[in-house]
Amino acid sequence: MWTRALVTGASSGIGRAIAVQLAAAGSHLVVVARDEAKLHELADSLDVPCDVLVADLSDRAALASVEERLTGDDDPIDLLVNNAGFGLHGLFHELDAERAAAAVEVNVAALHRLAAAVAPGMVRRGRGGILNVSSVAGFTATPGGATYSATKAFVTSLSEALHTELRPHGVHVSALCPGFTRTEFQARADHDVSSVPDSAWQSAEDVAAAGLRGIAKNAPIVVPGAANKAMVGVINTLPARLRRAAVARFAR
Ligand SMILES: NC(=O)c1ccc[n+]([C@@H]2O[C@H](COP(=O)([O-])OP(=O)(O)OC[C@H]3O[C@@H](n4cnc5c(N)ncnc54)[C@H](OP(=O)(O)O)[C@@H]3O)[C@@H](O)[C@H]2O)c1
Repeated sequence: MWTRALVTGASSGIGRAIAVQLAAAGSHLVVVARDEAKLHELADSLDVPCDVLVADLSDRAALASVEERLTGDDDPIDLLVNNAGFGLHGLFHELDAERAAAAVEVNVAALHRLAAAVAPGMVRRGRGGILNVSSVAGFTATPGGATYSATKAFVTSLSEALHTELRPHGVHVSALCPGFTRTEFQARADHDVSSVPDSAWQSAEDVAAAGLRGIAKNAPIVVPGAANKAMVGVINTLPARLRRAAVARFAR
């Protein structure tokens, strides 16, 4: 379905699984992250052409090199997977302010710039897809994860509006909203998840497959897994006061 995809955060977790599944379906790839060795290890393991683009997406100059690849009309990218991101756990006033600001840069500003770089060409060509990796955390404000939740609320909101704007131009846009997924994410976020039951977890491969199914059929929002779907369904029906109380209880 996709001729050439650019996947950010392809060095690990969900992004890596998406890249592997796209390659298995025959898509050529451009893979982006900071860890050059892991990107080359991935590229070498695939049976399709795969370009490695090493970039720290919190760095504007590095980000510009990725934007440039997305705006070019030679070998155009017809699927952008905006997946790179990271979380932070802890009380807002106790967080490292630089790291929190970097989360906004990577999860929000970089994702926004990359979507803005690729969209005009897709509209011109009358086809394409943008799969933005958000989170169930974006459906409600989360004490203890305030910045992260807010970044993902942005991603879901942006994606939903772009879905409607770009649909008449033949461009698919989906927000993939995973719950607990076994990747490096929790360790990097310094989040102790030892009390989260096994049944709440999904594999990166299952989440990736749900995301790719969703963007293929142009689903606006993809919540992978029955438990996550049920949780989001409940959150969406609760009045704001009850929702805040429930989330505060869960966050403790
Ligand atoms: N795992 C979960 O429970 C979960 C749940 C909901 C949503 N998500 C979302 O899923 C996405 C993927 O996360 P994951 O779970 O697969 O975690 P992961 O295993 O930690 O992977 C994160 C990826 O993002 C890249 N990345 C992080 N900061 C970057 C930066 N400054 N510049 C470029 N790349 C950067 C990392 O690559 P380098 O370190 O090589 O740069 C890595 O490839 C994220 O957007 C996350 O918010 C995850």
